[in-house]
Amino acid sequence: MSRLVVVSNRVPAPAKGKVHAGGLAVALQAALNARGGLWMGWSGVSSGAREPGAMTIRQEGPITYALTDLSRKDIDEYYAGFANSTLWPLCHYRLDITDYARKDMAGYFRVNRFFARQLGPQLAADDVVWIHDYHLIPLAAELRRMGVKNRIGFFLHIPFPPPDVFFALPVYATILEGLADYDVVGFQTRHDADNFAACIEREGIGSLKERDTIETRGGGRVKAGVFPIGIDTRGFEKMAADAVDNPAVRKIARSLRDREVVVGVDRLDYSKGIPQRMQAFERFLRDNPAYKGRATLLQVTPKSRSDVPHYLDMQREVAELAGRVNGELATLDWTPIRYVNSSINHSILAGLYRLAKVGLVTPMRDGMNLVAKEYIAAQDPADPGVLVLSRFAGAARELQSAILVNPYDTEAVSQAIAQALSLPLAARIERHAAMLRHLRRHDISNWCDAFLDALATTAA
Ligand code: UDP
Ligand code: G6P
Repeated sequence: MSRLVVVSNRVPAPAKGKVHAGGLAVALQAALNARGGLWMGWSGVSSGAREPGAMTIRQEGPITYALTDLSRKDIDEYYAGFANSTLWPLCHYRLDITDYARKDMAGYFRVNRFFARQLGPQLAADDVVWIHDYHLIPLAAELRRMGVKNRIGFFLHIPFPPPDVFFALPVYATILEGLADYDVVGFQTRHDADNFAACIEREGIGSLKERDTIETRGGGRVKAGVFPIGIDTRGFEKMAADAVDNPAVRKIARSLRDREVVVGVDRLDYSKGIPQRMQAFERFLRDNPAYKGRATLLQVTPKSRSDVPHYLDMQREVAELAGRVNGELATLDWTPIRYVNSSINHSILAGLYRLAKVGLVTPMRDGMNLVAKEYIAAQDPADPGVLVLSRFAGAARELQSAILVNPYDTEAVSQAIAQALSLPLAARIERHAAMLRHLRRHDISNWCDAFLDALATTAA
């Protein structure tokens, strides 16, 4: 079997024991644990004003990590700048906060070239290269320029917006051409793949020959397919069942007494709809006063990308909102919203999901949302909780038995919480069983195999 080489900006730092929240790292870790291979990416460390030194190579079980530091300037322009102040908001349909600076754009292409130069010499002829996410779109083009002939696939973990949104990006054509340099480009949902194909056709970069196959202007072929990412479903089920005996989880459960727990787990990101969710929970308590003192929203929200200004604004906004709701509604022995900024590891998280009657997953826009899937896998099948899920998460395409909501509609979300809390056992079991069946069949190894099979069957 040829070696798998994965490249992503974020790599979970092995051996540090630090929990890093984020779907890409969680999913790829699960995929690579099973298959082994080389995983190259950013160490998460800044080399300051100096150019980064040689890559650090570390072997952990079947995975070889090749990590590079980045200079302060690179982090500012490529990561905080073009990737997270331009592409991220743009792809989440937030033109109102999409910032663009040529200096950041230049930094983005520079760092992609740097990644290519680091990676190129390490590649063997039959390695299969799989590049991930919006930070590294031009990487295939850079590798091809260096003469790399390997099969190269790309998976976009975040949404791909429709042409009228995407074309607001001044360098949209270069980004599209960069995607057309891959052998396979994978998206989370049909909607994203169709948006991409529409952009490619409208710009004249290529045309759709048959479903999912684009013929480019230069005569090349790109497979642009749908590969909804999954989780390690069985592993998560087991972790959640074991978590019942975890002392830390028991302690949390005791502190919540017999209250109905509604759980939210998200990086502190404006795409996740955290303020809107808190407002909906407040509304639910005001409209259903019997739940005052009896229901708690446990919102686990590790800070994220704090060097990007919009994220700092969010941190303030959410903290103030939680404070206001708690100030107005709390009693001496009950706090309606428990708002936690630390990052929690999976074995405890699995236990929290399991003790929550409602999983409240209400992003304004999300590529997939693994938390929704983890919540389902973590439930006790004999007495499961209920998932309330935003229609605008990729996961909603698969988890149709959740209570689907529009997160912009505060009253609807408030009503969905009330409905979830009062759903009879039989209905809960039926909804949960349907979704768990789906998640077992479409788990992370299934995702990995489907993508790599598609890549293996393209003409190299
Ligand atoms: N996560 C975690 N600890 C936390 C918060 C989140 O391990 O304190 C994990 C969560 O379990 C999930 C991932 O981070 O696996 C978040 O993925 P998701 O697709 O929901 O959102 P993303 O952060 O990738 O936008
Ligand atoms: C999302 C993105 C990932 C990213 C993660 C965490 O899942 O799709 O590429 O790694 O968020 O964000 P961070 O900026 O900390 O890597």
